Amino acid sequence: MFEVRLDDVHQRAATGVLPPDLLVDDLIRDAHRRYATDDEGVVADYIPILGRAEPSDFGLALVDVAGHAHEAGDVQRRFSLQSVSKAFVFALACERIGHAAVHANVGVNNTGLPFNSVIALELNDGSPMNPMVNAGAIATTAMIPAGSAEARWDIVLDGLSAFAGRELALDEEVYESESVTNHRNRAIAALLQSYGRLDEDPLESVDVYTRQCSLAVTAHDLAVMGATLADGGVNPVTGHRVVAADVARDTLAVLATTGMYETSGEWLYEIGLPAKSGVSGGIVAIAPGKGAVGAYSPRLDAAGNSVRGQRACAHLSRSLGLNLFASVARDEREEIG
Ligand code: DON
Repeated sequence: MFEVRLDDVHQRAATGVLPPDLLVDDLIRDAHRRYATDDEGVVADYIPILGRAEPSDFGLALVDVAGHAHEAGDVQRRFSLQSVSKAFVFALACERIGHAAVHANVGVNNTGLPFNSVIALELNDGSPMNPMVNAGAIATTAMIPAGSAEARWDIVLDGLSAFAGRELALDEEVYESESVTNHRNRAIAALLQSYGRLDEDPLESVDVYTRQCSLAVTAHDLAVMGATLADGGVNPVTGHRVVAADVARDTLAVLATTGMYETSGEWLYEIGLPAKSGVSGGIVAIAPGKGAVGAYSPRLDAAGNSVRGQRACAHLSRSLGLNLFASVARDEREEIG
């Protein structure tokens, strides 16, 4: 179970705006310093190449809705996007096929089971339940309308790049390593097909999904991608609209209930933000209307979430006043700054 372990954090209430830039810089550096020596958790190796990550790497970035970056540590270290891709591909699918179709075909409720659970599918008549578990993500990717798997991949790559504000590229080694070991995902896709939940070829669907997971990103990229969801679907760095504002809203709602897998409830209780994690150690946590935190540290807890990333986000949600549920009485509000 995720344990927050915060010491002497000044708790700010959510106010609608971030503190001034210099204070945000300080608080990001402070959060990084506090958890940089936290060695709890283990690096994932069920995808063999992930086991080669440097356990001490730790980057923390916040990009606000003005497009300003506040950063500390290894924010330019490349790692694979993994499950963080699910959040943004869900948004791309919603943009193309609409709120109702995704809801009907994939669902938006937590399974309460691990991200690669086959039992969850069987228990729910083949419904993946939500787009943030592997089954739901494979189904979501396959729902993006395109004439071929290659054309679908082009849409995913262009869309994820628009979220990041730069052209993303595959980490070929990760793609290769995951492609030769993803037997369980292939089984999940075959099962989805048997339940009539996958109209596309199962192996091709897993392949596009594996590619989206293998894109190389940085903690800075995660913060920009998240800030786009925080900014009503407009990338605050490039100024380009990536998805509609209601799609950004729907995506954040799904992340709040399912983004941190079976520990999403604990995450919301401690941090109070929609977020998504990946097994390579990335986390993006989004504060609507304010910005997003991108964290990278590859040591994970048992659910597959970065330990330092979670603790740093818990710290920042308090020190920056990001928790969506935190308010104080009008008479007791402090001046920010
Ligand atoms: O399909 C997989 O297992 C990986 N490509 C992604 C899993 C993942 O990141 C789950 N995260 N916590």
